[in-house]
Amino acid sequence: MKIHRIASIPGDGIGVDVTAEARKVLDRAAERHGFGLEWTEFDWSCERYTRTGSMMPPDGIERLSAFDGILLGAVGFPGVPDHVSLWGLLIPVRRAFAQYVNLRPVRLLPGVESPLAGRTAEELEMVIVRENSEGEYSAIGGRHNAGQPGEFAIQESVFTRVGVERVVRFAFELAGERSGRVCSATKSNGLIHSMPFWDEIFAEVAAGYPDIYSEQCHVDALAARMVQHPERLDVVVGSNLFGDVLSDLAAAVTGGLGLAPSGNVNPPGDHPSMFEAVHGSAPDIAGKGIANPVAQVLAGAMMLEHLGEAEAARAVDRAVSDVLAERSAVTPDLGGSGTTAALGSAIAAALR
Ligand code: NAI
Ligand code: MG
Repeated sequence: MKIHRIASIPGDGIGVDVTAEARKVLDRAAERHGFGLEWTEFDWSCERYTRTGSMMPPDGIERLSAFDGILLGAVGFPGVPDHVSLWGLLIPVRRAFAQYVNLRPVRLLPGVESPLAGRTAEELEMVIVRENSEGEYSAIGGRHNAGQPGEFAIQESVFTRVGVERVVRFAFELAGERSGRVCSATKSNGLIHSMPFWDEIFAEVAAGYPDIYSEQCHVDALAARMVQHPERLDVVVGSNLFGDVLSDLAAAVTGGLGLAPSGNVNPPGDHPSMFEAVHGSAPDIAGKGIANPVAQVLAGAMMLEHLGEAEAARAVDRAVSDVLAERSAVTPDLGGSGTTAALGSAIAAALR
């Protein structure tokens, strides 16, 4: 029997609850589809930071490198600044393992109503390919003249030819397997150095894919289009910041953050990839047992697909759709009164 070794980092807040449900569903899928999942859990979190002064141990990355995949809940909690939790765990993992693609599929699931009235599942299906290793999220810059009237902050962006080209290429390859359409998020009218560079590389890569329809759109207009004409979008590729913002918007138009999964993917496969929900640790509902586990379960399905267990991944997907369509177990964010654990169990039980 094939065994996949998985590192689980539940993290903080609802990350802990939804990860427990994802494990429940994935273990059941493994059992049904004849493979094994060997889990190792790490308590790396803001709670650990408060206790020890660091989000993860100094050899954290080295320890993770031994795994086939990583399932992450969410990190971040009131009392610990968000830049500490992000830069102390999430960003080092993404960068050390060259997870340069952040893949964020969104679609309207059965039984879920989009706030965009009357939209069908066919019209609301897209995938955001977010650059995940450089761009606007850089540590270069600083704050000066603290406390004085002339105080200022500088935050640099880093765009490399290699970094832009590989993520754009990934988007074109993905479009080839889907609708054959790619839209690039730009803002070359405002960011006059980085974005023209991005656009130039996009055009170069596009020239190598004559069968793919490609276009670029300023990110502000693209945000509007996502709401007004989502049917015109399929693969959307964007920089780290643009991809981050657009994927929350895309999640919102398809029924909310409780449903949106994400993969931090190392396409060549020389390092483990990491899967997580798009949402964070939701301190406002943490500990209440009402977080929607679907996003994390679907992130788990993306992980199974990545591990070569496509059939099990599809089975998890179907189980989620069946349970949502039936609606009796859904959580409050979808208008139901179900709990995290009950919805997780219902999905596990629906696996065929
Ligand atoms: P958030 O995604 O945690 O919450 C935003 C809103 O959506 C809240 O009202 C929350 O209750 C709701 N929500 C999110 N997930 C839900 C689910 N599964 N079911 C039902 N409702 C859900 O974003 P927020 O509030 O901006 O951030 C909270 C903390 O999470 C911060 O510390 C932030 O840094 C961290 N964070 C961590 C991420 C990660 O680990 N990848 C990603 C985003 C935020
Ligand atoms: Mg985000």
